[in-house]
Amino acid sequence: SQFGKFGPLVGAIDEGTSSARFIIFKANSSDVVAYHQKELEQHFPQEGWVEQDPYAILAVVKTCIEKAVENLVALGGNPEDIIAVGVTNQRETTIVWEQGTGKPLYNAIVWLDMRTSSTIDKLLDTVPNKTRNKNYLKPLCGLPLSPYFSAVKLRWLSDNVDPVKNAMKKGTCRFGTVDCWIIWNLTGGPNGGKHVTDVTNASRTMLMNIENLNWDPLLLRFFEVPKSVLPDIKSSSEVYGYIADGPLKGVPIAGCLGDQQAALVGQMCLQKGQAKATYGTGCFVLYNTGDIRVNSTRGLLTTVAYQLGSNNPPSYALEGSVAVAGAALGWLKENIGLLDTAKESQTIAETATENGSVVFVPAFSGLYAPYWRQDARGVICGITEDTNSNHIVKAALEAVCFQVRDILDAMNEDCGIPLQVLKVDGGMTGNQLLMQMQADLVGIDVIKAGFSESTALGAAMVAYWGVKTDIQGVPIPMTSGNTYAPKISDDERDMRYKQWKMAVERSLGWEQ
Ligand code: G3P
Repeated sequence: SQFGKFGPLVGAIDEGTSSARFIIFKANSSDVVAYHQKELEQHFPQEGWVEQDPYAILAVVKTCIEKAVENLVALGGNPEDIIAVGVTNQRETTIVWEQGTGKPLYNAIVWLDMRTSSTIDKLLDTVPNKTRNKNYLKPLCGLPLSPYFSAVKLRWLSDNVDPVKNAMKKGTCRFGTVDCWIIWNLTGGPNGGKHVTDVTNASRTMLMNIENLNWDPLLLRFFEVPKSVLPDIKSSSEVYGYIADGPLKGVPIAGCLGDQQAALVGQMCLQKGQAKATYGTGCFVLYNTGDIRVNSTRGLLTTVAYQLGSNNPPSYALEGSVAVAGAALGWLKENIGLLDTAKESQTIAETATENGSVVFVPAFSGLYAPYWRQDARGVICGITEDTNSNHIVKAALEAVCFQVRDILDAMNEDCGIPLQVLKVDGGMTGNQLLMQMQADLVGIDVIKAGFSESTALGAAMVAYWGVKTDIQGVPIPMTSGNTYAPKISDDERDMRYKQWKMAVERSLGWEQ
């Protein structure tokens, strides 16, 4: 064959909130040939603000590509065998830059950033009939008004940052989510870079019409966003452009998905009715609803799951997003000193004696789905004189499971068909106690993926399908890892969940 010892290869750029990686797969398989990962810094200039340097995002991506390619070469592989590259990314994070120079006009405002609470307040005032209904735009874009989404961040930038305001007026400002920033730069930046995004990332901006997949004039007017700043919306699986320089010069970028959608694809949830949860900084549950846009009445988001090729219809998903999952362990480690590593949370929680009444709601940045309350703040309830630090660590893990339970209950009600199994992936799924607690507290089987990098795999799959359109959408065979079956009684599960709901009540309305 024309290919070297590993056959054709596909690369996946996975740019997450806390690190980036580049993984080189054998085409159409989950076999990893070479890999590199690098941490990415976050900045917290004020309470509730989270920023990243757009150049630093680019630099880590480029380093990961270079080092992974070096590893490939060291193994006797040939970078020319890489036939396509896919991109997957932390979603909603908002970047604006000057078209002519490529210079960022501000730091990236990260999805978790809360600075736009007051912008939301102002926008709610403009909802017709003075209803201040946060779901006013949901029929159009699938999302409630929340600081989480890009349009709100973009509006804050145009209201508060003069260079952004001016560049918007002049028509030289460009906006992008992280995928868009990476693709524009890798395909040439100011020298002919492609200003594109995919439907899944666009579906997180609040600017795309969820039905016709175009930028929506009413949404643009509501947020006062000029169309000239926006990228073209493409499908998730097609050639967007070619890498302009570096070790992969000339390779097509042929697939793109927001990271949670990529995990859905990488977990082979390509059928209606399948769902996955990814446990990282936050936790994100996506339920594939096929060609149906389920309009949640229970606080879930309607989002695009993927669109394979511009001629194919999109598949949709219902999403439940949890802002703080692994981040609660990070907080116990950094701020409180109860943990040395997130990993030891398992052994520590295992030594917690039965006490059972401590509940920790880590609503550090408000609560996302299904509550959407930016006024919520963290609480720890049910403390007795027997409570010790082990119980708090255990409660932090249980909080992840309860938040997923909140979401699955909402999904079951919205869809009418209760989920039978939950597929899980992400860093925290290495914690076996957490996985058992998850099965116990939701009452269904929890199946851990046999392959841990579902997100990167999803990006590699859509990139491969972007150049091999004849097999677009055909899943690759995967082995599943461990299955965790529920072990506690319904009564016990219900009792614990009732305590969680009581604790959530206490967290609401804290920040006025
Ligand atoms: O919506 C935010 C999500 O895409 C972030 O994912 O994996 O970077 O925490 P992650």
